[in-house]
Amino acid sequence: MEEIEIIKPDDWHVHFRDNEILKAVVPETTRHFARSIIMPNLIPPILNGNDALQYRKRIEQAIPKGVNFKPFMTVYLTENTNQNDLKESYKNGLIFAVKLYPAGATTNSDSGVKNLKKIMPLLETMTEVGLPLLIHGEVTDKGVDIFDREKIFIDQKLDFICKKLPELKITLEHITTKDATKYIKEGNKNLAASITPHHLALNRNAIFVGGIRPHYYCLPILKRENHRQALLKVAISGNKKFFLGTDTAPHFVHDKESDCGCAGVFNATYCLPILAQIFDNFDSINNLESFVSKNGALHYRLKKNKEKIKLIKSNKEIIFKKFIKIGNKQIKIFNPEFPVYWHIIN
Ligand code: NCD
Ligand code: ZN
Ligand code: ZN
Repeated sequence: MEEIEIIKPDDWHVHFRDNEILKAVVPETTRHFARSIIMPNLIPPILNGNDALQYRKRIEQAIPKGVNFKPFMTVYLTENTNQNDLKESYKNGLIFAVKLYPAGATTNSDSGVKNLKKIMPLLETMTEVGLPLLIHGEVTDKGVDIFDREKIFIDQKLDFICKKLPELKITLEHITTKDATKYIKEGNKNLAASITPHHLALNRNAIFVGGIRPHYYCLPILKRENHRQALLKVAISGNKKFFLGTDTAPHFVHDKESDCGCAGVFNATYCLPILAQIFDNFDSINNLESFVSKNGALHYRLKKNKEKIKLIKSNKEIIFKKFIKIGNKQIKIFNPEFPVYWHIIN
């Protein structure tokens, strides 16, 4: 038996959805995490401070009694976002960050941004007031190969934003490529990146083992092994510019196992045991705390959490629960299908 104690982790990229899904998935995150950034891509999206306030109330009602958890709310950036609302909502603590989805890049992103130039004045205002920008970093041109969309976004869009507004706090979310790790490492001090457990655990072969595996389909799509290795290297190194954002993204099984299946992996339930196993496999369990509990808080200029959690490695593999049941529907829980020996005690 091996045991470690770490500062209670934060998850800097979470999809809670709404209604029955919200109620079912919130406890899966609040069990182990102290704080999360909540994604605004509902239908319709969270477009302003008031939407964020109402959504936060619905989330707070779903937090189990006696559990300490702080949801940090975001607004979905469109070409019509109101500058004053952004400023006021930030000043009043209603929102924590603003999310940029290139229109059509991912699940529920239809009202996202088509023309980056149109939102530059908003980004300037955000820079002035210190409001962070979170980015789904993929171009959407139909002619660009799905595996190249992140790299081209960095070359054509992110680099432009970073050069124009070096003081803007930016998170390139759920990075998936070696190119992204390089750009972030060499980039300015206000630029950092989040990484998901599934992009650390799997490469793109996982989507096609013996047939098509819709539960491993997410965006940005899983990449080649050399890219996974690059992500692993920066994550386990403790580099302060990289931190956990699980991108836990629940969809009903019937929506994923479909003629046109949804993108998204629901990983909240076992993400920490999986990460502990991955770090341990590379003899880097001592850097887990930086990745899951310290680096993100540092980037967002927040204090570290006071609470701690314990992780224990036993000699028996943990048995994964397969589904979250919601009435007669279900959500499949991410399982990387390698042995995991770590579990968590709060
Ligand atoms: C996310 C979702 O389902 O909302 N899906 C995904 O594949 N990652 C959207 C996103 O984070 O891009
Ligand atoms: Zn995304
Ligand atoms: Zn996401």
